Amino acid sequence: MSGTNGGGRVVVLLGSPGVGKGTQGVRLGRDLGWAHVSTGDLLRAALTAGTPLGLEARRYMDAGRLVPDDVIVDLVREHLAAMPADRGVVFDGFPRTVPQAEALDDVLAEAGRGVDRVCLLEAAEEVLVKRISGRRSSPGGRVYNIHFDPPRRDGFCDETGEALIHRADDHPETVRTRLAVYREATAPLVGYYRAKGLLARVDGEGDIEQVYASLRTAVGERGSVPATPSRARG
Ligand code: AP5
Repeated sequence: MSGTNGGGRVVVLLGSPGVGKGTQGVRLGRDLGWAHVSTGDLLRAALTAGTPLGLEARRYMDAGRLVPDDVIVDLVREHLAAMPADRGVVFDGFPRTVPQAEALDDVLAEAGRGVDRVCLLEAAEEVLVKRISGRRSSPGGRVYNIHFDPPRRDGFCDETGEALIHRADDHPETVRTRLAVYREATAPLVGYYRAKGLLARVDGEGDIEQVYASLRTAVGERGSVPATPSRARG
């Protein structure tokens, strides 16, 4: 497939809560002109809008548990159907279970597409916990960090001036649950994608610029996926 807006390529960002999927995904999507699809952001938008989906999702999100697969797959299917099939997509926080990954394969196959690369961002748990504890978000979704990426004016978004919030699911007890859920339900995707030869490991412990540089190498310049996936390291 070819084209000026991503040629329909699909990249998945996989990794623990707080590893930097959102931070990197927004930038990657912007720089490549691809859609950045974060299921967490879609759910939070539904929650803010008070839709039935948002209300259903809330009880799972507040507890740090995964929203049921069928709900998430429908949400993603609807989102993909609304965008041109030749637009590149960066998925962030999806898929998160093996059934979601299988459903994504099916949805993409219907459009003659497939996942081209899965970038696994990795960092030690103490790094994740520090990043999450320092995260502050604007209601519009811009993410800051009081330790590593602070706003110019303490507590307020640089772009909109809105007051920054601490995500409801970023409190220590819920974070512990989210990390455990990642290990149990999402980590098996590493084997799933490694077996398909799609997995590229990215060191997520450097600063935001360093991680982005590694990610761009894993994805390929201008979004072209390197011909030989890094199977050897899987
Ligand atoms: P979601 O919003 O996807 O949360 P998550 O996967 O837990 O990931 P986070 O948003 O916590 O972290 P991130 O990796 O994006 O890190 P970020 O870039 O913000 O999901 C939330 C909930 O929704 C789930 O618990 C579940 O209930 C539900 N849900 C969503 N998708 C679902 C699905 N597919 N199936 C079922 N349920 C689903 O960075 C974190 C902080 O660190 C920020 O402050 C950032 O500024 C900072 N930072 C980032 N990179 C660096 C760096 N390199 N150096 C220093 N600081 C950094």
